[in-house]
Amino acid sequence: MEYKTLSNGYKIPSICFGTDIVNYELSLKKRTAQRIKYILKTILRRDTRKFKRDKGIVECTVHSLENGCNFFDTSRAYGGSERMLQDSLKKVKRDSYYICTKLNNSAQLKDIPARTVLEESMKQLGVDYIDVYMLHWPVEGKYLGYWKQLEELYKEGKVKAIGVSNCKIHHLKEIEKIAEIMPMVDEVELHPLLSEAELRDYCREKKIQIMAYTSTARLDFRIKASKRMEQVCRETGKSLSQVILRWHIQSGNIPIFNTSTIKHFKDNMEIFDFTLSDNQMKIIDSININARTRYDSDNCEWDRLG
Ligand SMILES: NC(=O)c1ccc[n+]([C@@H]2O[C@H](COP(=O)([O-])OP(=O)(O)OC[C@H]3O[C@@H](n4cnc5c(N)ncnc54)[C@H](OP(=O)(O)O)[C@@H]3O)[C@@H](O)[C@H]2O)c1
Repeated sequence: MEYKTLSNGYKIPSICFGTDIVNYELSLKKRTAQRIKYILKTILRRDTRKFKRDKGIVECTVHSLENGCNFFDTSRAYGGSERMLQDSLKKVKRDSYYICTKLNNSAQLKDIPARTVLEESMKQLGVDYIDVYMLHWPVEGKYLGYWKQLEELYKEGKVKAIGVSNCKIHHLKEIEKIAEIMPMVDEVELHPLLSEAELRDYCREKKIQIMAYTSTARLDFRIKASKRMEQVCRETGKSLSQVILRWHIQSGNIPIFNTSTIKHFKDNMEIFDFTLSDNQMKIIDSININARTRYDSDNCEWDRLG
């Protein structure tokens, strides 16, 4: 595993597994009645895929370390994923894995103290420290005050590094005005269709590490249909997902991938045995069309995002 050093000297792994699930509680066998109700509901809605995906994500988490990944992305907003991580990693020594979790929007909207939210996260995760703690979204009118609270938690040593998510340059500039400590990480949507060159330059200058979510753009049809991507895959003999994740590594981003199958998990981790040439990097850079596939932090309904 390769590691990245954050601006405060703390080291975190260079690739991360995203554990965003729909409902962990209901995938637990012991909650039989609730589980049957949930399964029936998903069948009636013809939506059993979500239930199957959750089970697959749990399985991938349980086998993550043996498949080479020891870094997990979660949030208070991810359907019980924090609790899932505690259960799945219970046999793993705490210093063998890394956790990034986030203070959710509903807590910001209700003005719940960051300390209370963090304590609940640590309880759910069954840990006594968090590696990277971040604000999930820059909720308007709230995020600057919450940043000051994160600085306090960092000073107390409860979290090894602090950061933000979904912050654009203008959000980071606002934080800089009030910050004693600048964010060490910004977790944003970033992939070949939305390569965020300007934000990446800005973060490089400010020593803010980018973590890239929806890192493969969920293999969007525009990526699948790209002749340029096909060319790079042919030249390297690697899959589309592997080529994109490798592009992130060589671009200096920490990619976060999600999968519900062990086969894809293993594939996604097999990206440290090849290198993209400068020309192949340029080809992938050229695919950018500034296409966002998820929410935009300048135009979103905060309460709908957890
Ligand atoms: N901070 C934020 O606001 C925020 C927002 C969104 C997401 N995130 C984080 O980012 C993580 C990943 O995001 P994401 O799920 O949107 O995007 P993603 O990782 O780009 O895409 C996941 C999709 O790609 C498929 N896939 C993965 N590996 C594959 C492979 N080797 N071959 C073929 N298909 C493959 C998966 O299907 P299979 O299950 O079939 O493999 C799944 O449908 C989330 O879990 C979460 O932790 C953070």
